[in-house]
Amino acid sequence: MLRIRDIDIENNLILAPMEGVTDLVFRRLVRQIGGCGLTYTEFIPAAGLAQNMERCRETAAFDADENPIAIQVYGRDPKWLAEGAKVAQDLGATIVDLNMGCPSKKVCAHSGGSALMKEPELARELVRSIRAAVEIPFTVKMRTGWNPQNKNALQIARMCQEEGAEAVTIHWRTREDLYGGERELDTIAAVKADLSIPVIFNGDIIDVASAREALAYTKCDGLMIGRGAMRNPWVFREIEAWQKGLPAPVVDAAAKEAVLTGYFDALLNKYGGREQAALGRWKKIGKYFTTGLPYGDRLRTVFLRSQTAQEARDRVAEFFEQLRVYESGEANPFEDGVAAK
Ligand SMILES: Cc1cc2nc3c(=O)[nH]c(=O)nc-3n(C[C@H](O)[C@H](O)[C@H](O)COP(=O)(O)O)c2cc1C
Repeated sequence: MLRIRDIDIENNLILAPMEGVTDLVFRRLVRQIGGCGLTYTEFIPAAGLAQNMERCRETAAFDADENPIAIQVYGRDPKWLAEGAKVAQDLGATIVDLNMGCPSKKVCAHSGGSALMKEPELARELVRSIRAAVEIPFTVKMRTGWNPQNKNALQIARMCQEEGAEAVTIHWRTREDLYGGERELDTIAAVKADLSIPVIFNGDIIDVASAREALAYTKCDGLMIGRGAMRNPWVFREIEAWQKGLPAPVVDAAAKEAVLTGYFDALLNKYGGREQAALGRWKKIGKYFTTGLPYGDRLRTVFLRSQTAQEARDRVAEFFEQLRVYESGEANPFEDGVAAK
């Protein structure tokens, strides 16, 4: 279990905030499958949230039973961050989180994100202003530093704790690493050894083996999972089962197909029936999903090439038909040259 101030979280597994991915629809899918103790919204510009911009309010929306839920804000103006955090609190968020990890040029240049790690005094001011503005628990998500030569997560995380943040999440990469870089866990281990608030590990957790390694090496209090959840939304249940000493959940082809197609139906509903919009999002997440499937490369190619929703649905149905045969052990259609068309 993970406790953030007075919030008891069912387990220590958290869905990472991912812009363009972890909207209400995706979070529902993960929650339906289970095993995830806490969800985060996509990042939201604090100024937009404070000024009631429709898009920001939409991004901040969560289900009545989505509890606990963290709303993540970003920005570099203390006044807007305080206002935005207050709105998050008024909307009923369990936790408000400050983004200090986003590497995108747009966010770093104008609005904060990981650039704040290069400006520790401004970062302190922002943390202080959010802390003063809200009563709900407040957390910060960061990287290990700006680049491999300047890893200052320890100083920044200490500052966050001093200023009243109640947990920090650290992605092991630096800003310059973007999504590559050389895996280095010592910085996170050092932060965990130093802080008294919970420290959550983030970066490349995709299964029980990676979860076990990260927890054993860093002694972190929890794990935040991003892309691994798109690849395999059952990853939370798998890790939870391992932590409880239970057998791993068995997920067959039929269950996987139901999740993938059900996700498209939910997207279609979200986009008010606009098929191409829903298809675009389906492909974006489905591409990751296929990497978690046996012979998933066969599906990926034809799925991504599909021009219409019907075509994509047909390719998915054909692939899973073959996967069922493969799983039954009767034959392996993938090796007989009868792969999904
Ligand atoms: C498509 C995408 C969107 C992301 N958007 C956000 C975001 O809105 N806020 C944030 O703090 N991090 C964001 N991230 C970073 C993730 O939360 C996470 O730190 C990173 O992907 C590493 O974790 P993983 O290896 O489990 O994916 C994003 C990552 C991806 C791939």
